Amino acid sequence: MKILVLGAGAREHAIVKALLRTGTAKDDLIVAPGNAGIALDAHTEPSLNPNLPLDVTKFALEHGIELAIIGPEAPLVAGVSDALRSEGIAVFGPSQAAAQLEGSKSFAKEVMAAAGVPTGMARECKTIEEVADAMDEFGAPYVIKADGLAAGKGVIVTNDRDAAIAHAEKFMDIGILVEEFLAGQEVSLFFLADGKTVVPLTPAQDFKRAYDNDEGPNTGGMGAYSPLPWLPEGFVEEVQREVAQPTVDEMAKLGIPFVGLLYCGLIVTERGIRVIEFNARFGDPETQVVLRRLTSSLSGLLYKAATGQLNGASTPDFTKDVAITVVLASEGYPDTSAPNRPISGLAEAEEAGVEICHAATAAGIDDTGEYVLISTGGRVLSVVATGTDFSSARAQAYAGIEKIQLEGSHYRKDIAARVAN
Ligand code: AMP
Ligand code: GLY
Repeated sequence: MKILVLGAGAREHAIVKALLRTGTAKDDLIVAPGNAGIALDAHTEPSLNPNLPLDVTKFALEHGIELAIIGPEAPLVAGVSDALRSEGIAVFGPSQAAAQLEGSKSFAKEVMAAAGVPTGMARECKTIEEVADAMDEFGAPYVIKADGLAAGKGVIVTNDRDAAIAHAEKFMDIGILVEEFLAGQEVSLFFLADGKTVVPLTPAQDFKRAYDNDEGPNTGGMGAYSPLPWLPEGFVEEVQREVAQPTVDEMAKLGIPFVGLLYCGLIVTERGIRVIEFNARFGDPETQVVLRRLTSSLSGLLYKAATGQLNGASTPDFTKDVAITVVLASEGYPDTSAPNRPISGLAEAEEAGVEICHAATAAGIDDTGEYVLISTGGRVLSVVATGTDFSSARAQAYAGIEKIQLEGSHYRKDIAARVAN
């Protein structure tokens, strides 16, 4: 089966590695645009812009693509799935309309209300007075969310009333949601959806804050681990029954079937499971650990989801081994951007046993004409390690990341620390 993966991050690199590990032939895989690391594992098409529906469709037809897998949200929001589907190509990724489940937090809240899905109380606000009212109603800590895609910078959780108001002012033109603060552990649980049926993958936990002990600003995610040994028995079944299935049923009822990955961002509160967000795509960096543990054919699963065949399909298998990923970020991330800089030590890290998924890297030439890898963004690499327990997986991940040199870079030292003994 000829497969096109759209995207250029560590998530897409993890998808590529999982496809190759579970039976896809390298010659059957094209990634657009990809990055310098993905290019080591698969054929890449750096000049194809994944956000242009007509260009992507033309390319897919010319190359006999039988399954398109869409990594990031931008192509979904741009309608790339719709364009590919209109030409009869199987697509793992929701339509533009269904991707609103991620793109519009108020739409997601409406769907959850109609489907009876447990979520925090929230109020849509049009003015700063309404924001202040809602903040008084829910109390501190204040949770203020921009009601649209804001590149991971749309949410603030703070006790500082002035900072909350300032955040609301900044995003007022795209709409504001003030939400009740939910206390508890966060869980990311992904479901494959074919429009009707949902199939769970395995739970993971993401580390959203920039620094150790959950300090510092929110980021796209600084690390993750899977599975979550502290989850109660029956957790996955409960989320499937109470969250994922009713959501996909409600979307079908609205005439906008959800085909692709339903990312359930959850908080396990004292009063039960609550949804804090849906995404319409694989999470980054959770994918790096979830798919690292998958042993079933990834292309088989995604093709079944893309073609309405999940009902009765065998459930995905995961190894009992645990996986952790630690993200190497460039200087100043997420507040400021650093200049592109050379990275070295990857081969030594891989010798220490880790797998490296590239997020923001490019190939360059140094002053002496030698090949050099350079960083090109905030989250640069995800270092992934597995093991029979979290202590050994952590030891390996950190032994690997310590071998990598990138001036000014930083990473969290406490990923999966609480589950390692
Ligand atoms: P979101 O983009 O909605 O996932 O929010 C980003 C992060 O903010 C989440 O991963 C949580 O850590 C935090 N967060 C969002 N909503 C809430 C909430 N209602 N209560 C507590 N923390 C939240
Ligand atoms: N790791 C959070 C996300 O992918 O949205």
